[in-house]
Amino acid sequence: MRSSALLSSALVALAQTAAAVTGAAEGFAKGVTGGGSATPVYPKTTAELVSYLGDSQARVIMLDRTFDFTGSEGTATATGCAPWGTGSACQTALNKDSWCTNYQPNAPKVSVKYDKAGILGMTVGSNKSLIGVGSKGVIKGKGIRIVSGAKNVIVQNVHITNLNPQYVWGGDAITLDNTDLVWIDHVTTSLVGRQHIVLGNSASGRVTISNNKFDGQSSWSATCNGYHYWGMYFTGSNDMITFKNNYIYHFSGRSPKVAGNTLLHAVNNYWHDSKGHSFELDAGAKVLVEGSVFQNVETPLEAGGAGKLFASGGASTACSQYLGRSCQGNGFGSSGALAGSDTSFLSYFAGKNIAAATDYNTAKNVVNTAGFGKI
Ligand SMILES: *[C@@H]1O[C@H](CO)[C@@H](O)[C@H](O)[C@H]1NC(C)=O
Repeated sequence: MRSSALLSSALVALAQTAAAVTGAAEGFAKGVTGGGSATPVYPKTTAELVSYLGDSQARVIMLDRTFDFTGSEGTATATGCAPWGTGSACQTALNKDSWCTNYQPNAPKVSVKYDKAGILGMTVGSNKSLIGVGSKGVIKGKGIRIVSGAKNVIVQNVHITNLNPQYVWGGDAITLDNTDLVWIDHVTTSLVGRQHIVLGNSASGRVTISNNKFDGQSSWSATCNGYHYWGMYFTGSNDMITFKNNYIYHFSGRSPKVAGNTLLHAVNNYWHDSKGHSFELDAGAKVLVEGSVFQNVETPLEAGGAGKLFASGGASTACSQYLGRSCQGNGFGSSGALAGSDTSFLSYFAGKNIAAATDYNTAKNVVNTAGFGKI
């Protein structure tokens, strides 16, 4: 009797240990706690998931199944546009916020039929951990939005997929805007209409994006070649992003685009198979790339941008003063160049939580460790 009571309490303790965040955020979002030690909840329906994410309680939300939002808000038929042609491999665009009318007045008009649930993601409140169980945590047809002052959020081990991939403006997987202390870890995103991850024009504060797989394979793309163009969009007004151990696969552009006032520390990532550019750096971008690999990437850096970049071929002591260590070099295989020697912004790293970096050769292993279902 006594020993079985002991055993069952041990099992409960084991289950509770399993229902928790794995590891801790490194870099700028260090210290994020999400739902902390709140008793885990296991939503069973899309409505329960929406409710747990959006309410004002600290929550640990465990995903042990697929949450399929496709069809949940119905479909819509409308007139959109085809800026890149009407070929079957081309994305077409929704006329969202009159985008076609205002920016593509000469593009052919086309009929578009889309799933309404994909357009706007679920709202996430403060103090939430959203955690997938094993490889079961899948959200289909709707993204997530950490916005409007929500703070202290962890998203780990989840797959977000199938957001109207044939249509630009069909949906963003992960949106941050007016937030602080967010950690996105071991997430896979695939088959989205617009951005895999977007940090909007308001401040997103301290953010760590680690161990994610951004999968750009799609039957519809703005470059009409199976490579998604809209990868990551970092344009916040006061953002510090640690971007580490991510696998960025099969994109043709904007992976990432950086502008606004964004300090981006890209460490030990693996960019693989791109038919276009990876970085697009506009005014206000302050970007350090180290310990990363570019393999079969045609254009690691789009020419002509006004952003600041430090990226070194070999290890560099230029970082020592403000990062307290040398920076790692980057590696290139069958790829274009990424070279930047602007050290003027490295002082922004002083006194911050800074992710460690290892030799770029270790970044090749990211292909085995990034994405959901790996922890
Ligand atoms: C989140 O947690 C912090 C710290 O416990 C607390 O001060 C804050 O009010 C919480 N926010 C919400 C929206 O519950």
